[in-house]
Amino acid sequence: MIKSLDLKNLDMQDIARRAVCPAGQHHGFREKLDEHGFVVLEPGGPDDPDLDGIMSELGEPVEYGFGTKLALQPQEGSDNLQFSTHGMPLHTDGLFNAGPAVRYIGMRCVAAPRAGGETLIASNAAFFAHAPVDLIEVLRGITIEYRNRIPGYYRNRPDGEHPRVAPVQDDPVTGRTRLVIGLTDPDDPMRTHDTTVVGRTAEESTELFDRIKAVLHRPSVLYAHTWQPGQVIVQDNRQVVHGRAAFPGQPRKLVRLSVA
Ligand SMILES: [Fe+2]
Repeated sequence: MIKSLDLKNLDMQDIARRAVCPAGQHHGFREKLDEHGFVVLEPGGPDDPDLDGIMSELGEPVEYGFGTKLALQPQEGSDNLQFSTHGMPLHTDGLFNAGPAVRYIGMRCVAAPRAGGETLIASNAAFFAHAPVDLIEVLRGITIEYRNRIPGYYRNRPDGEHPRVAPVQDDPVTGRTRLVIGLTDPDDPMRTHDTTVVGRTAEESTELFDRIKAVLHRPSVLYAHTWQPGQVIVQDNRQVVHGRAAFPGQPRKLVRLSVA
């Protein structure tokens, strides 16, 4: 049982230090992943991280329209935010797509930018430990509606309506409270979707999302990972939300494989 005092001391920078598996010490990665919500596997040892091997230990590959493995890199002329150098707001994967629930997301770095392009990881546990009580109360009482701006990015509900998701959910597998969210940047013309709180105006919704974002981006909640080629990060989609920092004018290539 974790004492409330310990929860208030929860610090993402400490969590991130403990989540590193140095080269040659990958054997315990599963325990670290379950405890911290993500792990960073360092290359260079006899157990140089192999994305397929690691992810096959964790579940069945999630099949998307493009297959299972995705090369995340800028693509000239693409109108998809994923394949741009723009920042990607913090989000949970796979919630709105009516596909299998994404449990673990694995990413291997092939090419890293010299500056920017950090993968942003925010701990759900740290969010709930540090968010003002009144904000959590509000979040427990609302539903968020997501509207596609890229055809096929989110699948609509069976009744043709837009996906609606409660942002605070109790996860039956981990037994922990989960933040389920898809933030968006209203100023980015390439944004994948728009979000509103059901029953609130756009202005009221934006104000609430700004409050959520401010807590998620506190150093006690958010870790920004600077990539080195060969590193692998595995995230538990039920314990963390993720995004990326912009990397204008730079190369960056990650290979992603998610499992359910
Ligand atoms: Fe994602």
